[in-house]
Amino acid sequence: MPHAIRVHQTGGPEVLKWEEIEVGKPGPGQVRLRQEAAGLNFIDVYHRTGLYPQPLPFTPGVEGAGVVVAVGDGVKGLKEDDRVAYGGPIGGYAEDRLIDADRLVKLPDTISSEQAAAMMLQGMTAQMLLRSVHRVQAGETILVQAAAGGVGLILCQWAKELGATVIGTVGSDEKAELARAHGCDYPIVYTRQDFVAEVARITDGNKVPVVYDGVGKDTFMKSLDCLARRGMMVSYGNASGPVEPFPTTILAQKGSLFLTRPTLYDYAITRAELETSANELFDIVASGKVKVEIKQRFALKDAAEAHRALEARKTSGSTVLTI
Ligand SMILES: NC(=O)c1ccc[n+]([C@@H]2O[C@H](COP(=O)([O-])OP(=O)(O)OC[C@H]3O[C@@H](n4cnc5c(N)ncnc54)[C@H](OP(=O)(O)O)[C@@H]3O)[C@@H](O)[C@H]2O)c1
Repeated sequence: MPHAIRVHQTGGPEVLKWEEIEVGKPGPGQVRLRQEAAGLNFIDVYHRTGLYPQPLPFTPGVEGAGVVVAVGDGVKGLKEDDRVAYGGPIGGYAEDRLIDADRLVKLPDTISSEQAAAMMLQGMTAQMLLRSVHRVQAGETILVQAAAGGVGLILCQWAKELGATVIGTVGSDEKAELARAHGCDYPIVYTRQDFVAEVARITDGNKVPVVYDGVGKDTFMKSLDCLARRGMMVSYGNASGPVEPFPTTILAQKGSLFLTRPTLYDYAITRAELETSANELFDIVASGKVKVEIKQRFALKDAAEAHRALEARKTSGSTVLTI
């Protein structure tokens, strides 16, 4: 029988249990996927703790890649042995899983299952942020919070390729070097430097038209102070905790700012949106302009260890759970 990580009650990493599972046959519109690798994402922590509630029990994980081993009724465009990947549908920490076929994309030969598991969610998120939420223009200077993280490293490289100057915050000197090597022109070690003052200094007081902030609670208010008039605050995650409620008059006081809180689920809903996002990601990775750095690997059964490392800010780049 295949195994999966199951969560029966929300809590710390210890609630991630390695268990045998019954997978069964795919229903209409579904396929059974034999996974070759799964991705680790910060949203897995939110699901595990209950910040983003899920019906219990559940299998966490929103990113994976592998081979189709059975096809349900009515599935078009996929057959047994196809190599596929996804970023989104929960249930990824599993050796085998059922999944809706219309959420899968076929993998080009140039991209391995491990690479796909490392980049589908984070890469499509970067595509959403840079190409839809705020279309980065050549010549813009942008601020990326947690620039050495999974989404962060992809954002830095892709934004650089679009012709932007990238300022990024990071938690250590080591992460600063990593971000610099991936397109971040000005890494700021925000655990010891005041990033608001640094952004003002780097931009000669002009500040930036957009901030991409996946850190949340600890950086949100200061991120607003980095924005030029009518700038766009893109709050896309809560690694340090959810942003606290605040009066919207603050957006007026700080320069008629825009605020958005996007999720990939709302930007890759239709099949056409999903394919555009995945294809743009595959193209830029195939071109070598964005490199997906797998900096950590953990066996899937050791997912709890992976969560501890992620929450302790000990990871950088992408993390793969090996199967
Ligand atoms: N909206 C969407 O659709 C969407 C989709 C995917 C991801 N996300 C969000 O994107 C963000 C990045 O995700 P990721 O999977 O790539 O994770 P990640 O960036 O690899 O890991 C999170 C990073 O946040 C920083 N951080 C700052 N304060 C922290 C704290 N108190 N606890 C933990 N980490 C802290 C750490 O970097 P430093 O040590 O450098 O500070 C840490 O490495 C997350 O907020 C995630 O929820 C959103």
